[in-house]
Amino acid sequence: MQKTRMILACLLIAIPTATLAADQDNRQTLTLSEAQRSHVLEEMRGLLAGTQKILAALAADDMASVAQSARPLGLGMAHKAEDHLKSVLPKEFMQLGMSLHQDFDRIAADAESKKDPKLTLRQLSDAMSKCVACHDSYRIATTPSPEKPAQAQKHNHHHH
Ligand code: HEC
Repeated sequence: MQKTRMILACLLIAIPTATLAADQDNRQTLTLSEAQRSHVLEEMRGLLAGTQKILAALAADDMASVAQSARPLGLGMAHKAEDHLKSVLPKEFMQLGMSLHQDFDRIAADAESKKDPKLTLRQLSDAMSKCVACHDSYRIATTPSPEKPAQAQKHNHHHH
């Protein structure tokens, strides 16, 4: 009985861990130089900071500030950052990114002309589903990641 319970407990712990590991392995790895990687990640942090500003402006019912915060995340941001990355990033990745920048241009334009916070929230939610989709699909590595044997990973968990 005791033994059965222990085995059950082990299974319950092991299954979610295995699922998580499988998800991570399913992401496509983009191998970039250190400079390219830091460029992409810098843009990412800009996207996060910008969306936070948009939300703060929405909460304050300040639609002019919504437009002001959304505009820098538009296609202008893409042209600045992505010209030299076009050759190394997959077409689908670039298209998803471009379509996200277009969304922010539209969010800025509509915030100015329509001044409808509920519309902006809907647009922002739709746009952010692209953050989610892309993050589910890709990860960045600066060197081809060597396959770690499961044994070595288990070993690491014992040290703490
Ligand atoms: C076209 C693909 C794509 C889109 C769209 C995208 N991201 Fe990312 N983002 C990535 C990738 C790839 C990474 C690196 C993930 C990794 O290596 O594990 C990343 C990393 C990040 C990081 C971590 C930055 C760091 O310094 O480590 C943040 C924050 C982030 N993204 C925010 C966002 C937000 C917010 C949005 C939407 C408004 C967004 N991203 C849209 C691809 C994308």
